[in-house]
Amino acid sequence: MEKIKKVGVFTSGGDSPGMNAAIRAVVRAGIQSGLEVFGIRHGYMGMIEGDIVPLNSQSVSGIIQRGGTIIYTARCKEFHHYEGRKKAYDQLMKHGIQAVIAIGGDGTFTGASIMSKEFEIPFIGIPGTIDNDLFGTDYTIGYDTALNTVVEAVDKIRDTASSHGRIFFVEVMGREAGFLALRSGIACGAEAILIPEKKGQYEALRKHMAQRAEKRKSSIIIVAEGEEEGGATEIAKRIQAEFPDLSIRTTILGHIQRGGNPSAFDRVTASRMGAAAIDALLDDQKSIMIGIVNNEIVHVPLSKSVKMHKNVNMELLKLAEVIR
Ligand code: F6P
Repeated sequence: MEKIKKVGVFTSGGDSPGMNAAIRAVVRAGIQSGLEVFGIRHGYMGMIEGDIVPLNSQSVSGIIQRGGTIIYTARCKEFHHYEGRKKAYDQLMKHGIQAVIAIGGDGTFTGASIMSKEFEIPFIGIPGTIDNDLFGTDYTIGYDTALNTVVEAVDKIRDTASSHGRIFFVEVMGREAGFLALRSGIACGAEAILIPEKKGQYEALRKHMAQRAEKRKSSIIIVAEGEEEGGATEIAKRIQAEFPDLSIRTTILGHIQRGGNPSAFDRVTASRMGAAAIDALLDDQKSIMIGIVNNEIVHVPLSKSVKMHKNVNMELLKLAEVIR
């Protein structure tokens, strides 16, 4: 096996705060180990089109505190097909890139896992998504920042909610997972938290509202976007129809959750994972995701990180009911 000298790094799928810190760590740790590092811009799209630029220590200076991703990201349909992946592989070969570090979520790793098998090129994954839904790691880069963004926004909503005695249904992101909703709900003192992982929650909420003694009491109800009834707007509409006396409002937090300066926790996690990805490549790893479990760096097969399901902590849901 030829010794690796040139490595590509890219970000793909939904951006998350801390991706820049991970890119910086990959570049600087790579250079320290004598590697040349290239940024593949705009995710798999840029890989197919050959949008590849050299990165040096200076190129990643002053980015550790910035949200988003300096090498851009994209969701790429063409990469779902063999022809697209072949074009991407040809571009990597043209630029002499022998291994790739992919920063993203499950869609990114599914593509990486397939391509590494088809073309025998090593892919190391770094989990970057606000959803925290990847198996094999306690935390994904961006989750902590997004969590704090939600908490800050809901604290503000609570001020107006309590002034008017209103009930706010606040929808948070997370795709099909409820990690962001569950933790932010606890942190905001939500009266109820609705997540995709728990079925039949609408009925339980309806019963709870019926038993509620104080009609003018303000409260926050956190709804994950992937929740089974269709999200905050739908739930709020139904509850309002059942309880016309309640003053109800809905807020969809949306993409504000993906932006902003990464938290210290995300910067440190990203820096550790970025450097660990370079170590893994030098250690001849081929198709793994870097994870952090119990504060230790771990390696998880890429295929496993996307196939296996990461469970939310249902104890937290019970806790939320006890202390509401
Ligand atoms: O996966 C990250 C995420 O922000 C999800 O929480 C959300 O469902 C999705 O991306 C939104 O994607 P887009 O920005 O492409 O609309």
